[in-house]
Amino acid sequence: MSGGIGDGPRTVVLVSGGGTNLQAIIDRVIAGQLGIRLDAVISDRPGVRALDRARQAGVPAITVDYGGHRDRADFDAELADAVLRHEPALVVLAGFMRILDTGLVEACLGRMLNIHPSLLPRYPGLDTYRRALAAGERWHGTTVHFVIPELDAGPGILQYRVAVRPGDDEAGLKTRVQRGEYLIYPRAIAWFAAGRVELRDGATWLDGERRDTPVIVDEES
Ligand code: GRF
Repeated sequence: MSGGIGDGPRTVVLVSGGGTNLQAIIDRVIAGQLGIRLDAVISDRPGVRALDRARQAGVPAITVDYGGHRDRADFDAELADAVLRHEPALVVLAGFMRILDTGLVEACLGRMLNIHPSLLPRYPGLDTYRRALAAGERWHGTTVHFVIPELDAGPGILQYRVAVRPGDDEAGLKTRVQRGEYLIYPRAIAWFAAGRVELRDGATWLDGERRDTPVIVDEES
């Protein structure tokens, strides 16, 4: 396997779209702040911006096009092969919009992270901004968590919390929450790379202590 940037645990990032979180990760790897080797970026959609971002940074950009497969099992097998052939110590889901096959999740248990735009366990699934605003929530945000087979249910590591302001709309709230994503996702990855955070007994452990709630970072007002 050739290419890639940075030094440290071999890391593969899965994407489906714009890749602004990927960019935040790439920038920190280039700055020498993450302690990972970014080996490959894999997309389930061809032609997305995230793939360009990877190529521009010198990271192999691979497409496993969902549309080009006979059926779900065929896609799952090729995706698992594309990920596992890198023998990653860490798999980062950064806007990967497809539910992963349980087999791949189990193969990567304890070394697969996701970022989900809500204060989990509230609002798993899609459309989190609209749902949180419609419910009149006072707080919204985003969560980095370990991935387990159950969707958006893995133990949390870091959470970025934003106070909902009167007059906030989806776009405005999303912009502020995403600013936090670019802060907490690289931070969680750096913790993982340094061996500070791990999944043990179904829980997150940080610096040797069990955490039943994620570390919370508040938006500065
Ligand atoms: C992020 O906001 C993340 O919360 C969600 O998907 C979005 C991806 O955005 N999982 P980008 O592709 O990183 O710009």
